[in-house]
Amino acid sequence: MQLSEIKVSNFRNHKQIAISFTDRITVLTGENGAGKTSLLEAISILGSARSFRSGKIVDLIKHGTERSVIEGLVRCELYENSIRAELKPTRKAMTLNGKKLHQVRDLMHVMPFVIFSPADHRIVEGDASDRRLFLNKAVSQWDFNYADDLRGFQRVLLQRNRILKENKGNFGVLHQVSKSLSPWDEQFIHYSIALTKSRTRYLQEFENVYVVCYKTLANKSNLVGIKYISSLFENPGKDTENKEEIIKEKLQESLKEDMLRGSTNIGPHRDEISLTIDGNQAKFYSSQGEKKTIALALRLAEVDLIQRQHKKAPMLLVDDVSSELDCNRRQALIGLLREGDSQVLITATELPMDLLDGMDLPFDHFDLTGEI
Ligand SMILES: Nc1ncnc2c1ncn2[C@@H]1O[C@H](COP(=O)(O)OP(=O)(O)OP(=O)(O)O)[C@@H](O)[C@H]1O
Ligand SMILES: [Mg+2]
Repeated sequence: MQLSEIKVSNFRNHKQIAISFTDRITVLTGENGAGKTSLLEAISILGSARSFRSGKIVDLIKHGTERSVIEGLVRCELYENSIRAELKPTRKAMTLNGKKLHQVRDLMHVMPFVIFSPADHRIVEGDASDRRLFLNKAVSQWDFNYADDLRGFQRVLLQRNRILKENKGNFGVLHQVSKSLSPWDEQFIHYSIALTKSRTRYLQEFENVYVVCYKTLANKSNLVGIKYISSLFENPGKDTENKEEIIKEKLQESLKEDMLRGSTNIGPHRDEISLTIDGNQAKFYSSQGEKKTIALALRLAEVDLIQRQHKKAPMLLVDDVSSELDCNRRQALIGLLREGDSQVLITATELPMDLLDGMDLPFDHFDLTGEI
């Protein structure tokens, strides 16, 4: 798979820009604020229907303009696919090969990608939502049903929360609220079980790969761990449990609390992944360097799992990270970029010669300075 061309208009600071890419390595350079990360962000929208940076569409549209368009051509073996995203302040419309996009999975099928970002340390240091974001994106590209289940769940959660918010603190109508929630609860249960199952399966396969990646990077004997903590089940991997009944009971138990807060307090949106190093919470225990190594190992494992699952190399978007890496980690990244046949986009303020010399492969160079 190869992204051969991207055209962007009124996206972040870009008024209009078109770039053609080779099937291997392209380096995008430009000063701070030139719009390098924004271009990777535009690519992430083509591949996953959402930005890896911001949740709000309006942030993405160039200030002072009404509408942003991103278009990409992706070659997959003999076929060429066109993906188009049109962003307006309150809505996003996407097409794949000229037809309205119904399922995000269709994009993931066409254009799997993994982004290495300087912000990845947040997966370790940030709060649970940062880790869920990582997990959601990773599982979505591994199990194509997951992205649709996730959207389904988010839709139901929104409806459920709307009812709870409207009746916030009004315990006199508890019974009616419970009745209004009931049809949503059925769907809530359905999607919660589906998401929990996919997350469990993913992390079971992920853990071994991740441990090996970390060992290779760190060159030390520390043992890292990753564990799924479900807000609904003590043992999410146990199939014998009657999961439907468990969630039903938990929703009932949580109803008063939910009404008090005006939102749903249990569910997959409250799950957590625990990252450990020698049994200690990595967030509080690890050094800065170890945190970066953990984050890089998580990304390398993410790439590995996509390759295993789909027998397809994801596109690798490397945003300005080489400057942050020490020798071992840089070597590992070079190894990953050299091996296989992934298309690679690297951004940097200046040509990252150490990385490029290490790879010793031909590359294209596009400078964004003066493009805006
Ligand atoms: N909606 C928007 N409209 C116009 N400009 C925007 C918008 N959102 C962000 N910007 C600007 O776009 C610029 C590009 O940001 P971006 O993060 O892509 O730069 P970068 O080249 O990656 O820089 P760095 O090297 O510092 O990482 C920033 O100067 C930012 O202020
Ligand atoms: Mg940047």
